[in-house]
Amino acid sequence: MKPKAQITMFTVVLGVSIVLNFFSFGRLYLNSDDDPDLTWTEDAAEEAEAVASIKCSGHGMAFLDGLVSVEGKPVCECHACYTGPDCAGVIQGCFIEADSGDPMFLEPFWMQHASGSTIVLAPWHRMSYDLGDGSLISKELETRIHKLHEITKNANTDGKYIVFGAGSTQLLNAAVHALSVDNDPAASRVVASTPHYPGADRILDSDNYDFNGDTYTHKNDIGNFIEFVTSPDNPDGQLRKGILEGSNVKRIHDFAYYWPHYTAIPYPTDEDLMLFTLSTLTGHGGSRFGWAIVKDKAVYEDMLKYMSLSTYGVSKETQLRALKLLDVVIATAGREMFDFGYSTMKERWGKFSKVLSMSKRISCQQFDPLRFCNYFQELKGPTPPFVWLKCEREEDVDCNAVLKLVNMIDWP
Ligand SMILES: Cc1ncc(COP(=O)(O)O)c(C=O)c1O
Repeated sequence: MKPKAQITMFTVVLGVSIVLNFFSFGRLYLNSDDDPDLTWTEDAAEEAEAVASIKCSGHGMAFLDGLVSVEGKPVCECHACYTGPDCAGVIQGCFIEADSGDPMFLEPFWMQHASGSTIVLAPWHRMSYDLGDGSLISKELETRIHKLHEITKNANTDGKYIVFGAGSTQLLNAAVHALSVDNDPAASRVVASTPHYPGADRILDSDNYDFNGDTYTHKNDIGNFIEFVTSPDNPDGQLRKGILEGSNVKRIHDFAYYWPHYTAIPYPTDEDLMLFTLSTLTGHGGSRFGWAIVKDKAVYEDMLKYMSLSTYGVSKETQLRALKLLDVVIATAGREMFDFGYSTMKERWGKFSKVLSMSKRISCQQFDPLRFCNYFQELKGPTPPFVWLKCEREEDVDCNAVLKLVNMIDWP
């Protein structure tokens, strides 16, 4: 080849090489959001975003597994008291059902944090009964739970064991079995201070356990007791401690509301058996995920056995979901979620207190004074998710009937 032709050839090859490199660089660094390699997730992602974009006026939501129109398309499922195709209509004379709680107040937070917390579930995701290491508990999720308590400063988990359950409801059953003498739930008397939440009532007051009612009535009794302590309490929001004394007394501490959106965190709890739940932490009651933090190895093993025999652990899909949600919480050391949660609760309490102050007939619980919150590093008052109402007039013996007059259905 002549020198001129050689130079021309060299120039062409160099030119092609630069162009190719330019495109490779562009694909790698400039266009990474537009990854052309996405194949099997694309349809699912489009489907998920399409259903999420259905407008329900902020009073409802459409779901992939929810109600559908006659054409088979997902439609809005409206919140209580709202109606219409876009949930914009108010149902006149609708009753507020205040006889149970559903922590949906964090839904807007999760809608703002969709990209960090969305999971893609492949059909082959963890089909096996066990995880790779033969256990039923994701080690990564366990690590996140330790981290979460460390940043929130609400529980000391050092050297303790963690058991996962389908919400604290299942863990409460596991705990009563594990703490009962000879694992026989009928051999120990179970007590809880009143007022306590109906969920605990339903479990403890069932045929499975020897439920003996209010703790105070057994203050001087001797025998085997399992004391159920909820702190802050549902419904009155008070921080509580155990009451019974003695070596035959075992305690289950339900700390469902011991998080900075509901209460000041004055100290990290350090009890033998503590229950926590995703339902009240992130608002995902439907995912059915909770954890117990257990000091004693034998109790931990008994609880694991109960979990294994009752449901063979917690669904792996739920564990993955919890992991991604906790990652979002931990990413800002909890600040974004707890700030949002606290200010939402505070605003609601402000509105509610204003309305209630106009009534001489109904009042609500007195609150604890401000306390220093180790998480927010400032004085905070309680912002509990429940109200403990009282009818002030002597003649209002049936307080539920009074509340029904203003379209409220309360606990019986
Ligand atoms: C005191 C208390 N503990 C636990 C829960 C949540 O139970 P789970 O984790 O089973 O959803 C609630 C929900 O209302 C509650 O009020």
